[in-house]
Amino acid sequence: MNSDKNEIIDLLINRRSHRKYLHKNISDNIIRNIINCGRNAPFGGKPKPDCQVTEYIIIKDNDIKKELALHYEDRQFIKDAPVIIAILANKNNDAKYKEYILSSGLSIENMIISAESYGIGTCILSCFLNHENHIEDKEKNRQILNLPDNIELVALLALGYKDNREEIQDKELRTYKDTVYFNTYCG
Ligand SMILES: Cc1cc2nc3c(=O)[nH]c(=O)nc-3n(C[C@H](O)[C@H](O)[C@H](O)COP(=O)(O)O)c2cc1C
Repeated sequence: MNSDKNEIIDLLINRRSHRKYLHKNISDNIIRNIINCGRNAPFGGKPKPDCQVTEYIIIKDNDIKKELALHYEDRQFIKDAPVIIAILANKNNDAKYKEYILSSGLSIENMIISAESYGIGTCILSCFLNHENHIEDKEKNRQILNLPDNIELVALLALGYKDNREEIQDKELRTYKDTVYFNTYCG
């Protein structure tokens, strides 16, 4: 029994991805708060604007959502998400851009956790990053979002109030002792 738990630890440990949402609007203030949590995540470089590579598109337009789902079966649920946030990396600030994947990832996790705090479920979809077989689809997503060349599409984050009727697959993790080492690998 671990007595050092608290609300945030419980939220982090119990969070799951959600792919079924209620038809309930998410207010603009809540979306803004969620994105501000993302914007306040750590990012590579000094804590100054020109080091902040992550940018966001808030998508509510149903036609655009449909288009973004493309032909992938495991993506069709995003059509029913009240909001999708596209997470982007601006390559203009080149040196810092190299760390974009970490910076964007931290920003996304902050948004996921802040959404959870409102009872809003999320599911992240990567945008074929480094998947050579899907370059054309990534290009389609870029066109749909009208992205200029200096903007990388990192991921989509679907958001919506949780529909408790969703059946969520049990989660099985590798064990703590199989994944955590002391001082050196296998130490
Ligand atoms: C980089 C990345 C890409 C993902 N892409 C998809 C996706 O395309 N479609 C989807 O339904 N879920 C996607 N997910 C969600 C994972 O399926 C999910 O996080 C994982 O199975 C662990 O389950 P949990 O989030 O419920 O803990 C993605 C997650 C990550 C981190």
